[in-house]
Order: sequence, then structure tokens, then C-alpha cells
Amino acid sequence: MRTAVGIDDIAVYIPRLYLELADENRPEKPTEFSLARKSDSSKYLHGIGIAKMSIPDTYQDSAVLAANAIFELIERNNIHPASLARIDIATETGVDESKPVAAYVHGMLEQKYGKGSLKRTSGVEYKFACVSTADALESSLDWAWAGRSNGKYSIICATDIARYPLTSPGEPTQGAGAVALLVKEHPRLLTIDPVIGVHMEDEDDFWRPLFSTTAVVHGKHSERCYLRAMEGAVDDWAEQAVASGIVKAGPGESLVDHIGPMSFHVPYPKMAGEEPKADVYKKREEFEKAEADYMKLFMETHQFQTEYLDKVADGLVHARESGNSYSASEKSCLSMLLETKAMRGTDLGGKRGGSGNYGSGCKAKASSWIVQEEWTATAKKFGHAEKLRHRRPVSIAEYEILHEGNLFPDGRKFVSEPENEFVLVDVTSQGYRHYKFAD
Ligand code: CAA
Repeated sequence: MRTAVGIDDIAVYIPRLYLELADENRPEKPTEFSLARKSDSSKYLHGIGIAKMSIPDTYQDSAVLAANAIFELIERNNIHPASLARIDIATETGVDESKPVAAYVHGMLEQKYGKGSLKRTSGVEYKFACVSTADALESSLDWAWAGRSNGKYSIICATDIARYPLTSPGEPTQGAGAVALLVKEHPRLLTIDPVIGVHMEDEDDFWRPLFSTTAVVHGKHSERCYLRAMEGAVDDWAEQAVASGIVKAGPGESLVDHIGPMSFHVPYPKMAGEEPKADVYKKREEFEKAEADYMKLFMETHQFQTEYLDKVADGLVHARESGNSYSASEKSCLSMLLETKAMRGTDLGGKRGGSGNYGSGCKAKASSWIVQEEWTATAKKFGHAEKLRHRRPVSIAEYEILHEGNLFPDGRKFVSEPENEFVLVDVTSQGYRHYKFAD
């Protein structure tokens, strides 16, 4: 019998600055951003599904976001550093070509817990666009399932800053954030099924060359790659789930009927659905039109709307309010989903849920989990919705300065004062980074 292993607690770090794309109460009202881009704010809210994008301040990089999420997780659970066997980082916005974010995070945490306090804790940086969180988690699960954890825990932290060039089509789908997961035996939130589906191809939908701080994306192509890879990963998961007897579908039932809450990688909330087969159409434009028509009709059906609202929609609030955080997206949506359901008193104990991760380039992973009976007490303490409320807007001028890494003309060093958190202090002429905890 395999040991029950999974996610015991989740801590999300959300930058305290955001750029408003649309006013949710008055979507037709232009925003500073929609005016600047000569666009329509209701396109952002209704066409793409995003109202606000999280923006990192001058003292924040992917390492800082990760350290802050992990620090909260350790403090909230009173974890002794010696009981942490691994702290692994998933990111596609690493800060160095050699030194992993995991090592910088290690140093920041030792500033709080004492030099050498984590010397028996391993760490590595995982990279595969947005899907690396699933790879990092799978590695920790395998380690625990293999009986190597000896009562110790591991932490997986996904951290990213999604950045596309100013005025490019990808610009309204940026964001930033980190999410830290405490992985252990007999967890309080979710045990994960030992069945993980995968689908991988070599694709040119999205990449960020070594010389660039912004990503290159073929937006519409990336949507299709996402859907194709996700479908492949779900099929792989389904074959394994049936073969291993984890899920049994009766006559006329779909395996999805046996899955309750679901969380997905969400580059933007409208990224959901299915597609018809491209090879039926002679011209690409015909296919694209048919695809769009099919999607609209499918998503309008009562059955789709009921399932979507019940199983998926609550988690998407994170993406609507914060934007894309690449590797941190899916688990941030999971955190939002669980917290919202817990606050609402929804009974999920014992139910099976599912996660879908996608990384451009491209690979998707599909997994399933069982919500534990005592999950609500933990989920109610995430503080996720409160973190989204505790933010301030930036003007378009401030946003563009932060985006381009320029200096503020009035001499300000940052937009918002750090609040008991790790910050980037400086980067030396040789590219070495120094961090501290700002009390
Ligand atoms: N009111 C309501 N809706 C409106 C509107 C208005 N005034 N104006 C336009 N719309 C609708 C459009 O009809 C369209 O809806 P449908 O998709 O239903 O047709 C929608 O808004 C989007 O508008 P466009 O078709 O004009 O799209 P765009 O050119 O602005 O691009 C985008 C949108 C493709 C999402 C683009 O922002 C983009 O490329 N983003 C980045 C790519 C991305 O996130 N890809 C997803 C997976 S890859 C990933 O996550 C990365 C990773 O692994 C690292």
C-alpha cells in the first residue's frame, strides 16, 4: 500500500501593486490603460477575462516573491527548518543562468532562521515554462512514495513574473506571483493519486530567448497548443486511472463526472473549452471561424455552465484579479478555489478533484487528488482574498517605468514601501544579487 502523500498547506504571495485593465462594476468605462492602448476595457474583462494585473515593485524579482511565499508557509505551520528535506523552485523567470533561485531563497531564509539552519535541505530550480510546478511536485511525490522522506517535508514554490513587450498583444495577459506548497505524508488538504498524465511536443508557441526580459508568443497558436496538449494529458491520465482502478466510469458516464473541483493553468480566464478537428477544414480561416463558433455554442450550453460554475469558476477569480503568473498560475487558482469553497461552507471532503498544467514549448500534465476530510480549517487560513484586496493601483506611467526597469523621474526608489518581507537590495556589476528582510 502506497503512503498517502500530498499538499498539506498553501501560501500565496501576491505583489501589492496592480494595473487596472477594466473596472468590474463599470466594464464599459475606459481605464487609463485602455485609453493608452486605444482599446476597449470590456475586451479585457469580457473578451480575455482579466480586470487587474499584478505588477512587481522595483525591489521584487522571482526569488523575492518565492522567499516571501515560503516564509509565510513555514511561519504559519511552525516548521522547524531541520524538518525540511527539500525546497524546490519552479520558475521560467530565473535570475541567473547558473545559480538557481533555490540557492538565493536558501540564503534569504537562513537570514531569518540562522546560518546553516537549512544545510541539510536540498533545493533545485525546475524549468519548463508554466508546467514545471507539476514536474517539481511529481519529483517530491516520487521521493515520498519511495519511502525516502523519513518524516521530513518538502516545499515546492512556483514563482514567476509574466512579461510581454509594451503594446504587444500579450501585454494584457501579464501578472506576477508565487505559491508555496507544503508536501508531506498524510496531508490536511489533498492526497494526490499516483497517476499523472502527460503530453509533450516540440512547439514554437511561446519562448523567452536568453537575451530578452520579455517573452515571444504566438498567441492564437499557443491557445491551440494548450488545448491539444491538455487533451492529450487528460487522455493519458484517464487510461492510467481506468487501468489502475482509481476511477470507474459506468455506462453513459464520462470520467469527468467523477471529478469535482478542478484547477488549471490559466494564462487568462477565457482560456477554457474544446476545439473541433483542424483537418476537416481546407483553409485555416475556415477552421478558426468554426472553432470560435463551436466554442461559443459549447460554452453557452446549460450543462457546461453548470459544471464550470460548480467546479472551476471560483479558482479563476485569482487570474481575473491578478493576471498570469506562469508556473504559479494553476496552484494559485487551486488556492483561491479551495479558500472560496471553504468560506462558503461547500462540503468537498472525500471528493476527487483534478489539476491541469500546461507549459509552452510544450507539455501538459493532468493529475487528480482527494480532498481530505479536515481540509476546511487549513483552507480558511490562506488569506488569499484578503491579499488581493490589500493592494494599490499603479498609474500607467508608473507601470511603464516598472516594466522597462527605468528610474522614476521624481527620484523615488519604489512605489510601495516594503512590509515585513524579503527585498532585493542590489545587483553588483558582476550580476550577483543581495537580498535582505525589510522589517
Ligand atoms: N468586448 C468583449 N469582447 C471583446 C471585445 C469587446 N469590446 N473586443 C474583443 N473582444 C473579444 C474577441 O472577440 C475575442 O473573443 P473570442 O476569443 O471569443 O473570439 C477576445 O476578446 C480576444 O480578442 P482578440 O481575438 O482580438 O485577441 P488578441 O489579439 O487581443 O489576443 C491573446 C488575445 C491571444 C490572449 C493575447 O493577449 C496573447 O497572445 N496573450 C499571451 C498568450 C497566452 O497567454 N497564451 C496562452 C497559453 S501559453 C502560456 O500560458 C505561457 C506559458 O506556458 C509560459
